[in-house]
Amino acid sequence: MQQLERDVDAVLISASAIQDEIRELAGQIAKDYDGRDLTIIGVLSGSIVFLADLIRFLPLRLRIKVISAASYGSGTTSAGEVQVLRGLDFDFGNEDVLIVDDILDTGRTLKRITEEIQRGNPRSIRSCVLLDKAARRVVDIQPDYRAFEIPDEFVVGYGLDFNGYYRNLPYIGKLRQEAILEA
Ligand code: IMP
Ligand code: MG
Repeated sequence: MQQLERDVDAVLISASAIQDEIRELAGQIAKDYDGRDLTIIGVLSGSIVFLADLIRFLPLRLRIKVISAASYGSGTTSAGEVQVLRGLDFDFGNEDVLIVDDILDTGRTLKRITEEIQRGNPRSIRSCVLLDKAARRVVDIQPDYRAFEIPDEFVVGYGLDFNGYYRNLPYIGKLRQEAILEA
């Protein structure tokens, strides 16, 4: 077995369950934005896998942009302050914006990014996340679209990382405690 798989303790959400749920989510989004001018903004780097799959289920005329944010700190918990590292050219005209991220945890990242995008005066701003750790929220913010609600556990795969690794796992999994301690 390869090192990558060896570090995984349990698969929480399988690759096929993810695809099924994204297809359903995309159906809802396509219905809601039918006939509108949509800009999807992916939050780097965690959203890349979800974003890539989601857009291929969306039969809409849409544009894609990316934004980059980081919260200080490392390991499995995020520190308080979120910094926007790569912003946007604030020119949304009459477009609707859909922010896509891997996971909504404390909510600080989504709040900060929403504020940044608001400066560009889009017609509307909504959010879409793959995972929602609702129990961990410290900021009063809810996703408009979400694929899965998960318990308060640190997860990796399908774009989500630990120390930059494991984003390429095709499923959402839990790491072995040793893999976290060895890092
Ligand atoms: P928030 O600002 O606390 O909502 O956290 C947002 C960011 O923390 C996400 O975009 C992820 O990059 C990261 N994050 C939160 N929980 C996890 C997790 O369980 N695994 C990997 N990354 C996570
Ligand atoms: Mg992130």
